[in-house]
Amino acid sequence: MMDRWSWLFPWLAVALAAAVFMLFGLVWWRALLVACLLVCVALLLWGLFLTLLKSDEPLVHSHGMTMDWAAPFYDVYCRAVGLGQGFRDQTLRVAAIRAGETILDVGCGTGVLTRRAGEAAGPAGAAIGIDPGQGMIRVAKKNAQRLGSRAAFKVAAIEQLPFDDARFDVVLASLMLHHLPPDLKRQGLREVYRVLKPGGRFIVADFYRPANPLWWLVAWPFLYMPMTADNFRGTLPDYFREAGFDPEQSKGRRAGILAFWSAIKP
Ligand SMILES: C[S@@+](CC[C@H](N)C(=O)[O-])C[C@H]1O[C@@H](n2cnc3c(N)ncnc32)[C@H](O)[C@@H]1O
Repeated sequence: MMDRWSWLFPWLAVALAAAVFMLFGLVWWRALLVACLLVCVALLLWGLFLTLLKSDEPLVHSHGMTMDWAAPFYDVYCRAVGLGQGFRDQTLRVAAIRAGETILDVGCGTGVLTRRAGEAAGPAGAAIGIDPGQGMIRVAKKNAQRLGSRAAFKVAAIEQLPFDDARFDVVLASLMLHHLPPDLKRQGLREVYRVLKPGGRFIVADFYRPANPLWWLVAWPFLYMPMTADNFRGTLPDYFREAGFDPEQSKGRRAGILAFWSAIKP
């Protein structure tokens, strides 16, 4: 259920809990022991809960950092950290979707953007979201059904897209490229290029070189993680060029830490 990078989060939780217990007077080794026990119990309970979210579609293995474990609270988390409506609106303005277009949302998570893209394309268009996280796709399908959306969802990974060549007018990648190590980014972008029609648009919204020193205080550790390093070094657009896209057009920034691009398949 959890990929190797996601294991960072329980360790962070252990460190945080141990620090709190030490503030309350426990010696360090007792604090660490109690924190480990608590996090183990929490992981066990959460794991049991997540098995209920498994989709009936076959499991897809990926070396990307999937976020299945976060599926039940992902939307609430996004809104809480400022990645709600305003961020989605800005992404859709960059995408400039026209009625009748066919859209693929790679790493769609719970499908918020996929649904909105589907609405923008109207009844003559179509939107499909893919994600290797079975829990994410289960939540995305449920939400789409509840909200009467025509968007479709499928368990799949960017590095092996189950679609014919030149099928889509637009491919969206929102907050997902920083979940892929460099080799997978290259492989995934070659696949995006393949499934786009000539003249099709690859729309990316992701973390990028922080625009101010305050953000660097928080963001510098990401320079040392293979998945996030290129985002924070500012070399993400090199991947678009390498995959064959026309020199990408930068489409603005958000909150000093996010950036948007529109790259065209010639
Ligand atoms: C931070 S979430 C972004 C979700 C959504 N696009 C959004 O804007 O809220 C990153 C997503 O990328 C997905 N992901 C990880 N590895 C992937 C891969 N190889 N192919 C496609 N998606 C992947 C994760 O499962 C997760 O749902």
